[in-house]
Amino acid sequence: MLQRTILTFAIGLCLTGSVAAASDDDAAISGDLAGMLRAGRAVVSANQDRINDPAKGQAGLDGPGFLAQAIAQFHQTTGKDPNDIDPASRGGRLVHMEMDAIVEVIDANQSTFKAPGPTFKGFIPAVFSRLVSEAFSRRAGGEAEMKVTAPPDLVRNRKSRPDAWELQAITAHFQSSGWPKGQPFSAVIDQPNGHAVFRIAVPEYYAASCLGCHGNPKGTVDMTGYPMEGASLGDLGGVISIKLAH
Ligand code: HEC
Repeated sequence: MLQRTILTFAIGLCLTGSVAAASDDDAAISGDLAGMLRAGRAVVSANQDRINDPAKGQAGLDGPGFLAQAIAQFHQTTGKDPNDIDPASRGGRLVHMEMDAIVEVIDANQSTFKAPGPTFKGFIPAVFSRLVSEAFSRRAGGEAEMKVTAPPDLVRNRKSRPDAWELQAITAHFQSSGWPKGQPFSAVIDQPNGHAVFRIAVPEYYAASCLGCHGNPKGTVDMTGYPMEGASLGDLGGVISIKLAH
C-alpha cells in the first residue's frame, strides 16, 4: 500500500533556487497508478494456467473481461473503484489511460493466449507490467510515465535498467539499513526547461512465488530462459517508478 509520505529530495531544488512542491494529488495519483498495475499483475498470476492452456477455458481473458477482473482486484485491495474517480480530473484521466493500456495489451496478446497448450508462453506478470507501462507512457504523452525497474544486478530486460534517479532511490534509500520496508521515495525535480516533475519509486520485495525464477540455485536457468539471481524471500526485487509532469 502506497504511503502518502512525501520525502522531498532537495538537491534538484537547491540547484535552481526555486522550490517546487509535491502535492497530495501527486502521491494519490501515483498510488492509484501503481495499484492498478499491481491489480492487473495479480490477475495475470491468478489466470496463468488458463493463459498457458486454452483447453482450461479463457472466459474473461479478453481485454474488457480482463480489465473487469483487474478493477475488482483493485477494489478489493484499495476499497476504491477507479471508475468513481472523476474522469475529467488529472488522476481520473491517467487511471483511464492505464485501464485502456491494459485492454490494449491483453487484446494484442489474444493469439498467445489462444495458442494450444499446455505450454509455457512467456506471458507472465513481469511481461504484462512492462507492456502496460510502455503502452500507458505512450498514451500519457509526456504527462506521465511508468516503468518497472530493479537493482542493476537483478535486471533481466535491458529496457528495464534503472536511470540515475531510480538508481539512487535504490542504493541510497531502499538498500540502506533502516529504510522502512515498503516506504516509497519521492521527489519533485526541476527540469532544465523550467518545468518540474514529480517522481516516485515504490519498492517491491520477493515473495515465495517469485523464487522459482529469481531464487536459487543462483545461475541455474529458470523456465523463462534467464539465469536465476539467487534472491531470498523479502529481498528488494524491483521498483515501480512513476513520473508525473507538473
Ligand atoms: C516464471 C518466472 C518468473 C516469476 C515467477 C517471477 N518473475 Fe520476475 N521476471 C521474469 C522475467 C522473464 C522477467 C523479464 C521480463 C521482461 O521481458 O521484461 C522478469 C522481470 C522482473 C522485473 C523487472 C526488471 C527486470 O529484471 O527486467 C521485476 C522487478 C521482477 N521480475 C520481480 C519479480 C517479483 C517481485 C516476482 C514475484 C512476485 C517475480 N518477478 C516473479 C521471470 C519471473
